[in-house]
Amino acid sequence: MNIRVILSALVLVMGCSSWVAAQALRGNPQAGQAVYEKNCLRCHGDKLDGNGPEGQYLIVRPANLQAMASRSKTDWELLITISHGAAFTPMHGFRGKLTDQQVMDVLSYVRMMAPFDPLS
Ligand code: HEC
Repeated sequence: MNIRVILSALVLVMGCSSWVAAQALRGNPQAGQAVYEKNCLRCHGDKLDGNGPEGQYLIVRPANLQAMASRSKTDWELLITISHGAAFTPMHGFRGKLTDQQVMDVLSYVRMMAPFDPLS
């Protein structure tokens, strides 16, 4: 099998699973706010700007979720980071720690506070 076939199969599987995830669970931003305050605020801050109380002590600073770099990412990209973390950074994955519903809830809260902006 050549690499192109493998890559397209991978893209297809990833694409379908995101579609299934998006269809199966809808996030609730109110519930997401509570999840955020408990699990994310200490690093990302109450304004989602990366200035949480513990953020200043980290060598790799928390992402400013209000920045163009984050707002131009798709929900799927943010979902991957929230679930699996960002390698070699203090952002660990929340899969297993939060339920799938809580991950969708917190994602919808993030997107309510810092909406997707493809042009940024
Ligand atoms: C221990 C501190 C810490 C906690 C707690 C934390 N994060 Fe992060 N987060 C980070 C750091 C550091 C990065 C930046 C990683 C990098 O530079 O690649 C990050 C990156 C991210 C990104 C990627 C942004 C982008 O533009 O790609 C998202 C989304 C995110 N965090 C959401 C969350 C959510 C939601 C929670 C709570 C469920 C959370 N984080 C909890 C430290 C934290």
